[in-house]
Amino acid sequence: MTMIEIKNLIKQYKQGTKTIKAVDGIDLTVKQGDFLVVIGPSGSGKSTLLQLIGGLDRPTSGKITVTGQDLTRASENRITKMRRENIGFIFQNFNLIPTLTASQNVESAIAKRSKDDRKRIVEVLEKVGLTNRANHLPSLLSGGEQQRVAIARALINDPKIILADEPTGNLDSKTGEEILDILRNLNKENHQTVILITHSEYAKRYATKIVEIKDGKISDSI
Ligand SMILES: Nc1ncnc2c1ncn2[C@@H]1O[C@H](COP(=O)(O)OP(=O)(O)OP(=O)(O)O)[C@@H](O)[C@H]1O
Ligand SMILES: [Mg+2]
Repeated sequence: MTMIEIKNLIKQYKQGTKTIKAVDGIDLTVKQGDFLVVIGPSGSGKSTLLQLIGGLDRPTSGKITVTGQDLTRASENRITKMRRENIGFIFQNFNLIPTLTASQNVESAIAKRSKDDRKRIVEVLEKVGLTNRANHLPSLLSGGEQQRVAIARALINDPKIILADEPTGNLDSKTGEEILDILRNLNKENHQTVILITHSEYAKRYATKIVEIKDGKISDSI
């Protein structure tokens, strides 16, 4: 089943008189259960592509369909709804709210409140191995633990798609590999579709597909 369909996607940024082609005509299909690794040099357009897929940004032209919904035509409300229901984001710098505990950070992302919320928060924290850190503030957690909280937060709405932008960039290699193993398990056991931007050779080993981006274009696809 096709999860994400991208056709001739273009994203340009205007900077003064210059136009930057951050994404410059990308075609890409991601199937359910894929583990797609995106590589490429700095400034090649990887993060921009991920943000377009997640509906955090709008393309200049081209078409992008996520779980059958055309994001290019959708209203802002519709895109927000699609994102909350289908997508979990994980970033390099964790992006946790510093004044909230681990469990409150997870709770803050809940899209639809229900009486099972407590149980679900405990479950996702368990899934990332953080049960005994639930009431800690981010500042009292290691980088790896903070990233686990961020993953738990991304999982709270049981997203079909996980988008991770260099999630191990701020971690030492051993901790980074533990984080990548969590993503791999989510893909293998929960059948969640993962798109991962990374420089890690470790991750490339279990990718179902590797796409290399250069100057906003796909330069290689394995
Ligand atoms: N909001 C913005 N306004 C203007 N230019 C931008 C903006 N966001 C990105 N760019 C430019 O678009 C190009 C692609 O940026 P992007 O962040 O997608 O690259 P990247 O592949 O993620 O790089 P890195 O590996 O360093 O994270 C770069 O030239 C960047 O400077
Ligand atoms: Mg980037």
